[in-house]
Amino acid sequence: MSDSKIVVIGSSNTDMIIQVERIPVPGETVLGGKFSTAAGGKGANQAVAASRGGGNVTFIASIGNDVLGDQALEGFARDGINIEYIKRVKGVSSGVALIFVAKNGENSIAVASGANTELNPDDIYDLRSLISQTKILLMQLETPIETVKQAALLAHEAGVKVILNPAPAQTLDDELLQLISIITPNEIEAELLTNVKVEDEVSAGKAAEVLLGKGIEYVLITLGARGAFFASSEIRKMIPGFKVDAIDTTAAGDVFNGALAAGLAEDKSLEEAIQFANAAAALSVTKLGAQPSAHYREEIDTFLKKHCNQYVNA
Ligand code: RIB
Repeated sequence: MSDSKIVVIGSSNTDMIIQVERIPVPGETVLGGKFSTAAGGKGANQAVAASRGGGNVTFIASIGNDVLGDQALEGFARDGINIEYIKRVKGVSSGVALIFVAKNGENSIAVASGANTELNPDDIYDLRSLISQTKILLMQLETPIETVKQAALLAHEAGVKVILNPAPAQTLDDELLQLISIITPNEIEAELLTNVKVEDEVSAGKAAEVLLGKGIEYVLITLGARGAFFASSEIRKMIPGFKVDAIDTTAAGDVFNGALAAGLAEDKSLEEAIQFANAAAALSVTKLGAQPSAHYREEIDTFLKKHCNQYVNA
């Protein structure tokens, strides 16, 4: 395990999953589903993926004072994540997500944010010393945007690398974007942020150009199984993904971000860290559920060795 510190700020949910033949359209009932629950939430998924990827992780979140919150905390502790700064809120339920997973691996998600909305900028300001001493701060957009801004500002002022996974998709102001070191949108999020429809490498390059123009150092647009398009002021490059049989794509993006943070925390080059994250994300879609699908370091390394002909720097 690396000594470098990763702080993840974000949501924690319990995912209620129904596997169905296909995702119902409005007004439709689809019978024959299979139900299961799994630990989820974009923030928590990224924290778990970073920890299983070999990172030393502290997770900052807000959960309810309920059974779902207890179970989430137990899971984080089992994963060796520092849970000292997770806030517990009375009278509000922990976050819950209802997820349909179709036979082709696609999903549809609705979230009741619950206690996730109670993580406020003051909570983050109180943790300024922790944030300013970390190596990497990783965030997403399932907690209040003012909270994300506060954390980004504190980290930026302290010279800490800020990775923002702008999911779920929403527009963001330039004030926040200029504090970000690495942004990791998927095609849909990139389009919302830039007004450029991302369909291929060329359009990804155009969208990346817009984001670089906002003062972000590195732009990484994830393109599903195709891999990730990587851009900085000097480089434009596609880092290819890996072909696997997808069972459930839920949290593939989260696993990518967590593994990316773990790779960077141990000083892999950005290209190597993206390759590592692509491998972790590919493995994740072969397993049902969000956190259950985050693989461990040894498994990711073994997978990478097996596919070493696709290995960057191989
Ligand atoms: O990115 C997947 C996650 O989105 C799920 O775990 C769900 O909880 C929602 O937050």
